[in-house]
Amino acid sequence: MSEIPVPAQLGQMITGYWISKSIYAAAKFGIADLLTDGPRSIADLAAATNTRPDLLYRLLRALASVGVFAEDDGGNFSLTPLADLLREDVPGSQKALVLMMGDDQFRAWANLTDTVQTGENAYEAVFGKPVFDHIAEHPEKARIFDAAMTGVHGRETGAIIDAYDFSGIQKLADIGGGNGSKLTAILQKHRAMHGILFDLQHVVDRARSNIDDAGLGDRCELVGGDFFQSVPAGADAYTMRHIIHDWDDEKSITILKNCHAVMEPDHKLLVIDSVILPGNDPAFAKLLDLHMMLIPGGKERTEAEFRELYDAAGFDLTRVVPTASDVSVIEGVRR
Ligand SMILES: C[S@@+](CC[C@H](N)C(=O)[O-])C[C@H]1O[C@@H](n2cnc3c(N)ncnc32)[C@H](O)[C@@H]1O
Repeated sequence: MSEIPVPAQLGQMITGYWISKSIYAAAKFGIADLLTDGPRSIADLAAATNTRPDLLYRLLRALASVGVFAEDDGGNFSLTPLADLLREDVPGSQKALVLMMGDDQFRAWANLTDTVQTGENAYEAVFGKPVFDHIAEHPEKARIFDAAMTGVHGRETGAIIDAYDFSGIQKLADIGGGNGSKLTAILQKHRAMHGILFDLQHVVDRARSNIDDAGLGDRCELVGGDFFQSVPAGADAYTMRHIIHDWDDEKSITILKNCHAVMEPDHKLLVIDSVILPGNDPAFAKLLDLHMMLIPGGKERTEAEFRELYDAAGFDLTRVVPTASDVSVIEGVRR
């Protein structure tokens, strides 16, 4: 039982965005990166970020009160373990994630009531076009989106590899594979396996250096395209992480049918997403579901809902393999 009185608990929930927007502002100013070599004064940080020292001080003081940055007796600010993850080049960096969440996607959240009433996609209402079209027109937003996927989903990769046995697959196609972080981890574990990284052309163009840096240039093909048109043939298993949750049922079935069209009977389909469970236990997936409603227009699904999608696209759902993270591997075979 929480010791916090009920009104205060609700108050924390109601004002939650004060903290997330403050973290966003600090990330936007690059404060954590500026503190990499040690504590700095507000005057120094304000000069480096073109901000007003008195107001920057209040921002960092507020963040220090929740453990993000620390102020010493001399008025200098330094990193804390939480603030350290706001640096750009650290393992597990959350900087791109906060930049993505706190900007356009935050603006779309302001439309939650409208979307729940009308069904109109919030992101399109605010920006006039679907999220992936909007991102494609803005290279810096696209770079941040790719990196943010590792920020939000990167922790899942190890858990997926621990929970699901990918051995036996000769060529694995990662459809909508983004920056390639999941596929590279699988290929690094399974040395004889080959891979296909498929995503929109501008995304695979940016992913190429990640594949080369991982030493996988000779085992991993990069293919650009649109999964609503077709996906590349030639793999004996097809995986998608956080793809199906981006789309409504009709669009999801189109993607799955396009996989079905290039697969052979008994080939495996490995969708990796959250599976919504019954009950009221805390579940990140149920909040992520709202984010999917507002941003791409998709949804998180129950096992029964995945079974229906699989069935409609010509797959049998064989099992759901939970992982130590928020996602499960929803395994199917092509009929
Ligand atoms: C939520 S991200 C997931 C990325 C990656 N699978 C991961 O788990 O980090 C969705 C991905 O779908 C890709 N995508 C969106 N529309 C697409 C399309 N029509 N064809 C191919 N890829 C698309 C995006 O570029 C993005 O990389």
